[in-house]
Amino acid sequence: MPDPIAYARAHQADYLAELIDFLRIPSISTQPERTEDTAVAAQWLADKMKQAGLENVEIIATQRHPLVYADWLHAGDAPTVLIYGHYDVQPAEPLELWDSPPFEPTVRDDFLYARGASDDKGQVYVHVKAVEAILQSNGRLPVNVKFIVEGEEESGGESLEAFIPQNKAKLAADVALVSDTAMVNAQQPAIVYGLRGMCYAYIDIVGPKRDLHSGSFGGGINNPLNVLGHIIAKLKDEDGRVLIPGFYDAVRPLTEQERNILAQFPLDEAAWLAETGAPEPWGDPDYTLVERLGARPTLDVHGIIGGYTGPGAKTVLPSKVHAKLSMRLVPDQEPDEIFHLLKAYVAKLAPPSVKVTVTLEHGALASITDFNIPAMQAAAKAYATAFGEEPFFMREGGSIPVVSQFQSELGLETVLMGFGLPGDQIHAPNERFYLPNFYRGIETSIHFLQNLASGSFEEWQ
Ligand code: BES
Ligand code: ZN
Repeated sequence: MPDPIAYARAHQADYLAELIDFLRIPSISTQPERTEDTAVAAQWLADKMKQAGLENVEIIATQRHPLVYADWLHAGDAPTVLIYGHYDVQPAEPLELWDSPPFEPTVRDDFLYARGASDDKGQVYVHVKAVEAILQSNGRLPVNVKFIVEGEEESGGESLEAFIPQNKAKLAADVALVSDTAMVNAQQPAIVYGLRGMCYAYIDIVGPKRDLHSGSFGGGINNPLNVLGHIIAKLKDEDGRVLIPGFYDAVRPLTEQERNILAQFPLDEAAWLAETGAPEPWGDPDYTLVERLGARPTLDVHGIIGGYTGPGAKTVLPSKVHAKLSMRLVPDQEPDEIFHLLKAYVAKLAPPSVKVTVTLEHGALASITDFNIPAMQAAAKAYATAFGEEPFFMREGGSIPVVSQFQSELGLETVLMGFGLPGDQIHAPNERFYLPNFYRGIETSIHFLQNLASGSFEEWQ
């Protein structure tokens, strides 16, 4: 029988063909018209898990999109790993900016282009294939494994959030493993030990009961779009500090030690900037760029609906406008508390000439993991074997809501073992996954499971 690494190498072409199939399914969780497709993706994944040799494969219905569960629990006293990922993807719009259609996966220069390629179908599939390679080679896994893969991560994750407290025994494990983050660059792996949390909110402003002619009414009736502009302008100062009173009160200060660790992170600022295409970096001058990107909270407006946006001019006072915004949070900011601070502040800014409503869309706590635990060392060793480089430890600015819940409800620390790249264009047109890292990711996962079994894992429990 081949060893798992040789097996995985011999099957790379099959793995790629399967991933392409997975990526063809437009499982966009936020769009109601894609509900059916999202269910198809869950079924597709469940079928592949069965073929991989996983057991108790289940599609668990929820209020919205199904969860996919599977396990293999014959490793006796060896540790249990809970592997999490998400099979839902972000919307693909604006479609005209894609060089190849988002749901027709295309390989160009070692990259696989498709919505969800890196975030997160490609990365979650890494572990399905790693498990398959070990089971096909050895007939057994070195550790117990449970998979829980959700279909709502990109749109709030409420169904899994509700499922976890009800199913603690089912999900019980010694450590969680998540691949939904990025490396430093194609050669340099990274383990993320901190994720930001999130408070996503809407602002709705209604003025007149219908759109009005701006010549007949302009100057006499307040314009909701202008009001929205005023309110947004007061949410942050010109340097990027959030102006909501109390916003920073709960922020756990960065220790000198952590600032020193973050200062060593090898961010190539020029390359990073070039990737964005922006003229220069920006943000709170009291913190370094690396700190601002992962270890400090922030606020951004994501979309505004209102007024006339068609070609040419139209002179109208819109009746209503809508804005979407989010705040990225750090320990120990509470999403509900932050939402109330936003709401109170916006209410204070709102003039009586319009009606302003602020609504919470979803919230998630930030998380931070002790990177001295042996499972982290098992992961670092696995990366070093597969990539030939020790990983850096870093804080990530994105959010994976379930990680803090694993900590609080299941008592699990999470190893965030990412295989994406900073240039993967996740959530944007031309999302892609670097295929050599798909294959090395599978090998890293194989080594990780083996290291966990043979390491001093029990000592830290
Ligand atoms: N995979 C991302 C998180 C991420 C972003 C990791 C950037 C590394 C770099 C995840 O799927 C994601 O996008 N999460 C959402 C969560 C939100 C909807 C609560 C996010 O961060 O916007
Ligand atoms: Zn993701």
